[in-house]
Amino acid sequence: MRNRFSALTAALCVLSGVLAASAAAGGSWDERVFGSHLDFDAIAAAGPSALDSLIERGRELFKAKFTTADGAGRPKATQAIIPTKRKSGVNPPFSRTSGPDSNSCFGCHNDPIEGGSGDDVANVFVSEGFESAQFDNTDPSFSSERHTIALMGAGLVELLAREMTADLQAIRAEAVAHARLTGEDCRADLAAKGVRFGWIIAHADGIVDLDSVDGVDADLIVRPFSRKGVFTSLRQFTINALNIHHGMEAVERFGVRWTGSHDFAESGVPDAITAGDVSALVAFQATLPPPTVKANLPGDWRAAASQGEIQFQTIGCASCHVQTLPLKSLVFTDPAPFDMAGTLRTSEAKTPIRIDLAALPFAKSLKRNDKGEWLIPLYSDLKRHLVVDESVNALGNELQAQRFVERDVFLTPRLWGVGSTAPYGHNGSFRMLDEIIVAHGGDARFSRDAYLALDPQQRDSIVAFLRSLVIEAP
Ligand code: HEC
Ligand code: HEC
Repeated sequence: MRNRFSALTAALCVLSGVLAASAAAGGSWDERVFGSHLDFDAIAAAGPSALDSLIERGRELFKAKFTTADGAGRPKATQAIIPTKRKSGVNPPFSRTSGPDSNSCFGCHNDPIEGGSGDDVANVFVSEGFESAQFDNTDPSFSSERHTIALMGAGLVELLAREMTADLQAIRAEAVAHARLTGEDCRADLAAKGVRFGWIIAHADGIVDLDSVDGVDADLIVRPFSRKGVFTSLRQFTINALNIHHGMEAVERFGVRWTGSHDFAESGVPDAITAGDVSALVAFQATLPPPTVKANLPGDWRAAASQGEIQFQTIGCASCHVQTLPLKSLVFTDPAPFDMAGTLRTSEAKTPIRIDLAALPFAKSLKRNDKGEWLIPLYSDLKRHLVVDESVNALGNELQAQRFVERDVFLTPRLWGVGSTAPYGHNGSFRMLDEIIVAHGGDARFSRDAYLALDPQQRDSIVAFLRSLVIEAP
């Protein structure tokens, strides 16, 4: 007991030392969220003993309403992911459309608990993303509307995607090596964790034919975040979100190195978010426990849900909403291995921050297979699919492609927790589970038709099953 106590004290001292290092003057009534900033290298050096306080700091930042004194707002910068100056005029402090559109992460991610989903009132209007400018209406020719995605289990999701990326890239490397060696074309099927992503043909000259790659980007990086599956890591997403929603610019993307300025957005506060601050937000999100199955289900609901779970498999829902994906390691490292410039990369950090999710209480509830892999019950294949066809096209309401992803294609959403995150669909326009299920067209059409062919009581059992997958406070 005494040892545990002193370990905890030591951990807090380490982190408060880190905090104190850059503490600015100001009374305890200071309106700033950032009385001080975190130093990435100091956190990494402090090791696991500082984890609890790092997560706690991340929680504070996630819930904090950033103020002008913190650098909130971006008078001269747009929401674009690549630092982009406004061409003329001054961005308003708040704009519900192109942002800044809210005060805190928690302002949207709060349903049913912190880190969760949100009401439709918190929807976001995302533009094509990379150079987007000001738009002041919700016309789909300027932006696409998005419903808030719950972050529960997000660390596990990112780890799954990293392992899948490593598998797919290894297949490519092997095919290239084989083609070089034999002087002949080498066709290789792309599959990771049982999910198939088409195939590639490697030619003897090292060129790889990518025409038949399916559901993943041509660089074979599985991007598990956002409805379109276009973001690689919590770190990358967090930096985007800080800028888009709050006008808080992270040094690693908007700082001197890339923009030549300490205050690119001209908010009046230099270097508003340090790499360590981003890491605190990442640590908080990465360690959020995954959703669970509703406790104390009434007997009739439990019976219907177990029948529904079988139907869900039988009619093919689980071909995309795969019940579990196996994960080899629960060690989450920050920065992430496959990020692009503008998000801190592994090669740029002296030592990464290492978070062993296996040490967290939720790990005990994860089942393992005979290879010792952790079975993550997310109900997704982390792959993109076409869900629109000529006659079933309610999900085909968008006019903008995001990155290279076609308009009618979306990442299979994770269904763990879906019983707690109504409304449904990428823009939250479906109030009931039955409605979103019936809206599946394109590659999901077969299972949607099979759903409609069931008798009403069987359809209802699928809803009973989905509604049993919930987010509950630990
Ligand atoms: C105005 C509402 C709003 C605010 C504020 C907000 N988010 Fe989000 N968040 C969303 C929406 C909507 C999505 C889905 C975006 C998409 O699909 O393109 C999302 C998605 C995410 C994702 C990806 C989750 C996944 O599994 O795909 C992460 C991570 C995230 N937000 C983190 C944050 C952080 C960190 C903050 C604060 C810095 C924040 N968000 C602030 C609404 C918000
Ligand atoms: C071909 C792959 C595929 C199949 C098969 C499939 N889905 Fe989906 N599902 C998706 C995609 C992609 C989305 C996202 C659609 C959107 O938001 O535009 C989705 C969305 C959902 C959602 C909404 C989740 C949310 O949080 O908004 C539910 C619920 C759902 N599916 C249940 C089912 C059920 C039940 C079946 C079987 C009848 C099924 N799906 C079959 C790919 C599939």
